[in-house]
This record gives sequence, structure tokens and C-alpha cells, in this order.
Amino acid sequence: MIIISLFTKILHYLPGELSHSIALRSLKFLNSSGLMKLFRITKTYDFSERDIRNRTNMVGIAAGLDKNGDYIDCLSSLGIGFIEVGTVTPKPQEGNPKPRIFRNKKDKSLLNRLGFNNKGVDYLVEKLKERKSEIIVGSSIGKNFDTPNDKAYEDYIHCLKKVYQFSDYIAVNISSPNTKDLRRLSNQDFFDYLLKKLKDSRSELSVKFGYRPIFIKISPDESPENLKLMCQLIVSNEMDGIICSNTTVKHKEEFGSGGLSGTPLRIISNQILTFVKDEVGKDFPIIASGGVMSVKDYKEKLTLGADLVQIYTGFIYEGPKLIQDIIKHSSD
Ligand SMILES: Cc1cc2nc3c(=O)[nH]c(=O)nc-3n(C[C@H](O)[C@H](O)[C@H](O)COP(=O)(O)O)c2cc1C
Repeated sequence: MIIISLFTKILHYLPGELSHSIALRSLKFLNSSGLMKLFRITKTYDFSERDIRNRTNMVGIAAGLDKNGDYIDCLSSLGIGFIEVGTVTPKPQEGNPKPRIFRNKKDKSLLNRLGFNNKGVDYLVEKLKERKSEIIVGSSIGKNFDTPNDKAYEDYIHCLKKVYQFSDYIAVNISSPNTKDLRRLSNQDFFDYLLKKLKDSRSELSVKFGYRPIFIKISPDESPENLKLMCQLIVSNEMDGIICSNTTVKHKEEFGSGGLSGTPLRIISNQILTFVKDEVGKDFPIIASGGVMSVKDYKEKLTLGADLVQIYTGFIYEGPKLIQDIIKHSSD
């Protein structure tokens, strides 16, 4: 584990996107060569229960780390309870020009403006079919950058139909700040319409493939009024849960526009989590995401009412040790 921690620190001297890619490829190599066992990164819990609301292992990997489902098996060998792959769009797309991931080591944060770079939903479906691990996998779906908002629901439904039978849950991403006007989909008319379409489509798909929960991933930058309305619509349209939250655009980073994650996001996303929990009630499932950099941050999310907790930036800064620490100390 010391070697992996050292390797993680060395990667911090490389450009953001390159270091992510090297880290994931190295994990894949360690996993496929059987070397993972040497580093004592092993599964600690039994993952046989498929109901994501009733997990024994509550820590997972957030969307965006494995955008195309290329690393499901190796990430699962880290001991996490679940992984959210994507966000994918109907057609493959390049995303925004590079550089587009920036590291602020002092703050332990990341700024990204990737813009849904992904190989398309069909590629992800192949990877979901190929995976060997039994880990719970959620698929995060979005829209292509050139699909206008009044047609956005078509992209979401297209992706939903493709990933549905191969996913344990579906995450609907309407909260990335890096696709122009995507966050406008949280305005009442678009949002209500999209949720109704998702609900109808899930009804049809569940007859054939069984029931899959749909989670809506929200932005931490919503006004309290809109957030209240969104919570009401999510509940009235019988969605199954909320992922709280995506990255924030409320920052003054020198690197320019994009969504900020990591330590500075923690307080903001915790405030949103508390607000949402109050609105939807204690029994409504919530996956918390935002600024979990330590065991303490993880426990804080659970205390605030999260059912499951995701990490991304903490994994980039601390490496697999963060997951090990969370698993080891979660019942202290
Ligand atoms: C480089 C990067 C790419 C991301 N891509 C996605 C994505 O494709 N879909 C999504 O829903 N969230 C995406 N996110 C947001 C994360 O899933 C997570 O919600 C956010 O970073 C807050 O958690 P953290 O502070 O633990 O990083 C991305 C975050 C980062 C840093």
C-alpha cells in the first residue's frame, strides 16, 4: 500500500488528464496480472445483495472516473461497494479542448471542464456485458452537446433503453456544468417532462427486464426555491433517489471556467444534502458526493442522512488508501 501511495503522489506532478489515465491503466495491469493481492487490496464485503439501498459497503466511485466502463473489474477489486460509470451520451463525443482538468494541490481540489468526453452508449453497453466482477454498477446518462434542450429527453431515453438491462441503477445527469445549458434541464417544465418520460420508459422496460432504480444527480448551485421544487417533482414522478451533488461553478479558480470538486465542495454539497434530506424525508434514498477526502468526511455524509457515499477527487489525491481507510474504520 505504501508503494501505491507513493505512486499516487508521483502522478500529481503530471498533467491532470494524463495522470488519471496512467493511474487507471496501472490499476488495470495490477488487477489483470494478479499483483493486486500483493498490495492487500482485496474485497472485504460480500456483494451478493443486489439491492443498492441495503448495502453493507456504502462507499463507491462517482461518475466520471470510468467514463466508458473500461475499468469496472479493476476498480471493483479495490473493495468499493459500487461504481457509477459514465456519463455517456448517445453518440461518442470528444468533449472540450484540452487542457481541461486542473489540480489545485493547496486546496486539494480539481477543476474540470471535460464536457462529457465519452465513447458513446453502445461502447459502454459492450463493456457492461464483458465485465466479470459482480459489483453493483450504476450507469450515468446524459445528452450530446449538440442536442437542443427541447429534444434532450430523447437522448436520455435512448441511453436509458440501451443501458437498462445491464445496470443495477441508472443515474440521470442533468447537473454537469460543462455542457452548455445542460443545467437548464432542472427548470420546472423541462424537468417535469423529462421525469415523466423516464418514468414511462422505466415502466415499459421493467416488464421485460425487471425493475431498476433511477437516481437524479443534482447540482449544488440550485437556488433553494428550485431545489425544493425539484425534490417535489422527483418524488411525485416516482424517481428512486437523488445523487447529491455534482461539482460547483461557484469558485474563483485561476484556471477559468468548469466545475470544482474536492475539499472546497464539501461544505456546499453537505448543505445541499441537508436541505434535500429535509425536503424528501428520511426514507428517500440519497447517494452523497462532494468533498469526501477522509474517513471523517465519509462519516459526516452518513450522519447527514446519506445512504451511500461516492468519492472521486479524494481517490485522485489519496489513491486506494482512502478506500481502505474508509472500509477499515467505517464501524469505529
Ligand atoms: C474530472 C471529473 C470528471 C467528472 N465527470 C463526471 C461525469 O461524467 N458525470 C457526472 O455525473 N459527474 C462527473 N464528475 C463529478 C463527480 O462524479 C463528483 O460528483 C464530483 O466530483 C464531486 O465529488 P468529489 O468532490 O469526491 O470529486 C466529474 C468530476 C471530475 C473531477
